[in-house]
Order: sequence, then C-alpha cells, then structure tokens
Amino acid sequence: MVPRYLVNFDAVKIDKVITDVVVVGSGIAGLTAALEISKQFDVALVTKSELKETATWYAQGGVATAISSEDSPKLHLRDTLEAGAGLCNRDAVDVLVSDGPDRIGELIRLGTEFDWHGDRIGLSREGGHSLARILHSGDTTGSEIEATLIRTANAWQSVQVFEHRFSLDILTDNGRCVGILCLDEPTGRLVLHLAKAVVLAAGGAGQLFSITTNPPISTGDGMAMAYRAGAILADMEFIQFHPTALDQDSMPRFLITEALRGDGAFLRDCNGERFMVGRHPLAELAPRDVVTREMVNIMQRCGDDPVYLDATHIPEAVLKERFPNIWNHCSVNGINIAKDLIPVRPAAHYTIGGVKTDLNGETIIPGLYATGEVACTGVHGANRLASNSLLEGLVFSKHIANLIMHELSAEENGPVLEFKLEYRMERPQIDLNIERERRWLQRLMTDYVGVVRSEKGLEFAISQLKERDRILRAQFKSLAGFELQNMLCIAGLVARSALARRESRGVHYREDYPEPSDDWVTHLEHHFTEDAVAG
Ligand code: SIN
Repeated sequence: MVPRYLVNFDAVKIDKVITDVVVVGSGIAGLTAALEISKQFDVALVTKSELKETATWYAQGGVATAISSEDSPKLHLRDTLEAGAGLCNRDAVDVLVSDGPDRIGELIRLGTEFDWHGDRIGLSREGGHSLARILHSGDTTGSEIEATLIRTANAWQSVQVFEHRFSLDILTDNGRCVGILCLDEPTGRLVLHLAKAVVLAAGGAGQLFSITTNPPISTGDGMAMAYRAGAILADMEFIQFHPTALDQDSMPRFLITEALRGDGAFLRDCNGERFMVGRHPLAELAPRDVVTREMVNIMQRCGDDPVYLDATHIPEAVLKERFPNIWNHCSVNGINIAKDLIPVRPAAHYTIGGVKTDLNGETIIPGLYATGEVACTGVHGANRLASNSLLEGLVFSKHIANLIMHELSAEENGPVLEFKLEYRMERPQIDLNIERERRWLQRLMTDYVGVVRSEKGLEFAISQLKERDRILRAQFKSLAGFELQNMLCIAGLVARSALARRESRGVHYREDYPEPSDDWVTHLEHHFTEDAVAG
C-alpha cells in the first residue's frame, strides 16, 4: 500500500500558519497568482528553495505573444495547435493566445524590460512559429521577469514569503483542500499552512532524467502531492526534450536558446554537414521534437559525438548584444561562439503533462488550483510550442486569481478551517544511499523512457520501478528522501503512460509504433489509490 501522506502527523500538535490563500512555488505562475490575489486577500507563498530558484529564472528565449502587426492571436493559435499534434484543448489555447497581449502589457507596466528596436519591441523566432513573435530580454528573459515580479512583491509587502519550506502534501478534509503540510527545512519542523484555497505552482519534473536544463528543485513534488490528494494527472507521457543544451558536465545543463537558431545558427553533424536541411521544411527551426530525434540519430551515427551549433556566420557584435549570457558562458568554457562550433546534446526540458485543470485552473479537488508547469491545462497537447510556457503561467494564474477572489468575496465566513486530522501508518525505516538511488532513477528514465521509447524498454523500466515500491512506503526525514519518493511516483506514471500509448505523437516517440494513430487522439489520466504500486 502506498501512503496517502509522506509523513505521519497529528494536525492538532503541529504549528499552524493561517492565511486566506497559500501559493506553492515562486516562478512566474506562483508569483503572478500571489501578487494578484494579495490585492484583496492574505497570501502565504511557500517555496522549496530561495524565491528565485525556479525554472522561470533559467528561461532564456522569451515569451510568445501575438503583438506585431503581421501577427494575430489566430495565427498564434494555429501554430500552437499544429505543434500540439492533435491533443491541444482548443478552448485553453484560445484563452492563452487571446489574453497574452494584455498580460504582457501588465508585465511591462510592472517594469519588465524587454528588448526594443527603436520604437518597436524586438521579436525573435523559435521552432514551430510561423513568424517572429517571441519577446525577449537578451537571452535571460526568465530572470528579468522573475526579478520584476520579486521586486513587485517586495515593494507591495503584500505577500508573506516562506523560503526553504518544502511542501510535503496537500491536506484534504471531507474531500476539500484545506491547506498544505510542510517541512520547514532550516528547523526540521513540520508546519501546517491552513487556507481557504491552495494554488499549486510547483513546477515540473525534469530531474527525472540524467541530462536536464531544469534546476535540481524540479523533482515533480507538486504533481506527486496533488496525485496523492486525489487530483487527476494527465498527459504524463509527454516529456519535452530541448535539442540544444551545451555538451558539458554541469547540471542543470546550460541551455543554448532556440532563438540562436531563430537568428540564423545552423546545426551540423560530426562531419560538418547541415543535417536538418531536407529533413523538414523549417530545417533547424522544425518543432523541437523533430530536431531532437534527428539529433539522436545523428549522434548514434557519429559514435555518440555531440551535434554542433554553428553561429560563426553571425556577426560577433550581434552575438554579443543579443546573446550576452551565452557569449559569456561559452567564453568561460573556452568556446568563442563567433569562431568555434558549440557542442550540444538534447536535455529533458519541460513536463507537458501534470495536474489536470479546467480553464480557470480548478482541479477536481475543491479549493485546489494548479498553474504553470505543474498543471495540465491542455494548451500544449502532445508538444509544447516554444516560449508558450511563461505565457501559460501568466495567463492562467490571472484566471485563478480572479476566480479565487470572486469566491472568497462571496463567502460569508469562509469554510471552517478547524479540523482534526491525524494520519498514521506503519512505515519501515530503510537504509538507503538516496543520492545513488536518485542517479539510478535518472539513468533508468534516460535510457528507457527518454527520447526514443519501446515496449520492451518501458516494460523493463516499469519492472525496475516496481522493485522500488518499498521506498514509497518507507519513512524518510530529509528533503532528499521525500524528493526521491516523489520522483519514483512520477517516474512510474510517465513510464506507464508511455507504455500504454501505442503510437508516436508529438514528443512521445515509440520506435515500435513510429506513426500517429487515430485510435490515440485521447488523453491518459491517472488517479491515486493507496493500493497503487510505483510502476
Ligand atoms: C529556449 O530559449 O530555447 C527555450 C524556450 C522554451 O523552452 O520555451
């Protein structure tokens, strides 16, 4: 039996913080929700690490939005649906592309400095976009947005921030979400955050793989705790790999933004050939699943040599001005991108599936909302269009905030937050090298649940995960142990969905079923039961 909660607890005996709303996660989605809701209600923002240690901070390329005179939300919708390979929720995409320009306007009013060319905002192009529509701030767009939102939260002093507080589980009472159970890392104490609404914005699960652009915090915690609480997880088989992460040992892998290819960089194989020409009409700017798979083939043919990005024909001044972060990072690593080829490999980049929500971010658990990478709103379908994710966080967090403010304003006294809740279960203590186990899991997922999948490989991965069931039942005390339990839980769901989907679609590629099938224009969902096993 898999426990409903990661730890045993007695709510009566734990320290409590009571606010109107708790937001879990401090990337663009969490900060946007927190700032909006705090205009009317008390908000506690709980985050696992430092405020800025989020996937948003590392986002380079930018935010896709239809703002140019040649563009329109309709064209943005068309490109998003095309990338999503038949599985996008059209209504959700409509909300994304229609609300986008207004949300970007708000970000600019808060002080976000996007790049301008004279009196026009600078727009770049990335894979799958039919024209230039990516707003950017050099090649550190995510950190510019994150810094703006953090500055705003500090200036307004309206959001109570709890850093280094790890959310263990969503508390439910009579089927309603009443708060979250946390581990306060510095003190090692359990803390209950009680609230009338919880907004989950806890990011993705890129750390399931050995090579990822995601920071170490991206361990799927939000998905795992929502799952244990009874929310639906959907589309978990769709893991997006970014083709061009710098081929070096650091983790997270340093991303070389797709915008570099948008500005003209080529991809070359170990013999110096441009291999994407003739493989896809958009060549290097084909959707990233197409580029990634082609790279995997090329690397196999080249004896596992990396692939090379060639920006040497782009003027040095342009490279320095437009991509200062990449310029500096590569220089420090001995690569002069104006003269040298840049070695790159694919890396796990984005978890497309997640906690299923409606257009207002509501989950099936009353009082629980999800937004950003942790959520599955349906906008990405089977393949996320580049630079749509920051926009998704902005747009849907605003909808969530509006709904929560409306609902809380309508409540006379709000739901009663006093409840008696105790959870006890026999849990073995196990002696485990957690770090080694995490690396083992990442290797397993990379080898058998990565870019190219097969029935045999997936069945093997699932059987290996099943053997780790005892870890899910064990009692850990450290954050690393809880992360491992969450990662095992989510890895099992990704592998099971990937095995079930007997076709190739979007980012999910099965070498034994290499074509899409009309039978599979559908979504796979997971519901937790305490009888579930990891695999
Ligand atoms: C990039 O800059 O290439 C990443 C953009 C994204 O993942 O949307």
